[in-house]
Amino acid sequence: MSKNVLITGAAGFIGFHLAKALHARGDFVIGLDNFNDYYSPKLKSDRADLLNALGIVVEKGDICDAHALHALVKTNQVTHVVHLAAQAGVRYSIEAPHAYVKSNLEGFVHILELCRAFPHLKLVYASSSSVYGLNEKIPFSEKDPTDHQASLYGATKKSNELLASSYHHLYKIPVTGLRFFTVYGPFGRPDMAYYSFTKEILSGNPIRLFNQGQMERDFTYIDDIIAGIVQAVDLEAAHEIFNLGNNRPVTLLEFVQTLEHAIGVSAKKTYLPMQKGDVTKTFADISHSQKHLRFSPQTDLTKGLQKFVDWYRIYYDIPTPIDSETPKI
Ligand SMILES: NC(=O)c1ccc[n+]([C@@H]2O[C@H](COP(=O)([O-])OP(=O)(O)OC[C@H]3O[C@@H](n4cnc5c(N)ncnc54)[C@H](O)[C@@H]3O)[C@@H](O)[C@H]2O)c1
Repeated sequence: MSKNVLITGAAGFIGFHLAKALHARGDFVIGLDNFNDYYSPKLKSDRADLLNALGIVVEKGDICDAHALHALVKTNQVTHVVHLAAQAGVRYSIEAPHAYVKSNLEGFVHILELCRAFPHLKLVYASSSSVYGLNEKIPFSEKDPTDHQASLYGATKKSNELLASSYHHLYKIPVTGLRFFTVYGPFGRPDMAYYSFTKEILSGNPIRLFNQGQMERDFTYIDDIIAGIVQAVDLEAAHEIFNLGNNRPVTLLEFVQTLEHAIGVSAKKTYLPMQKGDVTKTFADISHSQKHLRFSPQTDLTKGLQKFVDWYRIYYDIPTPIDSETPKI
């Protein structure tokens, strides 16, 4: 049966792709986003325009506005909420902690209160691999303790899991948290390394490799993440947490090499020490999501980064090395 899904953060990277996927399979989708300027609002409005062209409306509004949330649910007979709106980014949480408290804590409680007010709603929300923080045991399993966050961002995501758990206990809200591992792909987030590296490499500027390029990340392609979210929506679990990650971490250096090949240009590299708030490695144990969500990432880094770079060149109107003067590797 088709669903009426409210996606918060629908003009964001993951929200945009999820809205398209749910719409394509016949669900009704209504989006909400405040189009803030943490990164280019134009990128957000371009995403929203593309959704609009498909008949998907993205309302401009804030998740801290309870009246707006209630009206959206009533008017659109919403059955499911996928809550993706948040202040994202580990490094920015050192600079602007209050933005995280506002959207990730206060905003999250508004979403839980919405579900309390409309008990038929089923909630899926974005958590993060950041909750594993300083854990050293790998791969990271949902069964592992997550008591040592490395950043305020991670702490807000961990708080979301605790708040969701208490609301489930108190009001039986059906709620699923998804711990995403470094998601990348077309229409991605300009604050993330793969995006800013692409920009700098194409401009001939050096890229900054923290921890001397020795950090490892479990980069996960957007289509794989979307498949996992859609399965979580359909599962309608009472109370669950799942890892959604590629299950194959790569070092930053290997990642940059793959990106250089996708772009066709060598990067100038500046090696720097570890940054505050960062963790050295992320690595998802996906046995739980394989079993319950049939989660099975299909896109390797070479294919995924090529798709990103191809999109980037079209979006910013940058010619490929074949028809430009850009030196090849
Ligand atoms: N992309 C990743 O690698 C990654 C990894 C782990 C977790 N996550 C989480 O997944 C979710 C989606 O991430 P994304 O990469 O699409 O980020 P994004 O920043 O592109 O999308 C979030 C959207 O939410 C909107 N928003 C923020 N605060 C809001 C508020 N108070 N009210 C209404 N809208 C608001 C923003 O304008 C943005 O469009 C976030 O919760 C993020 O923390 C993402």
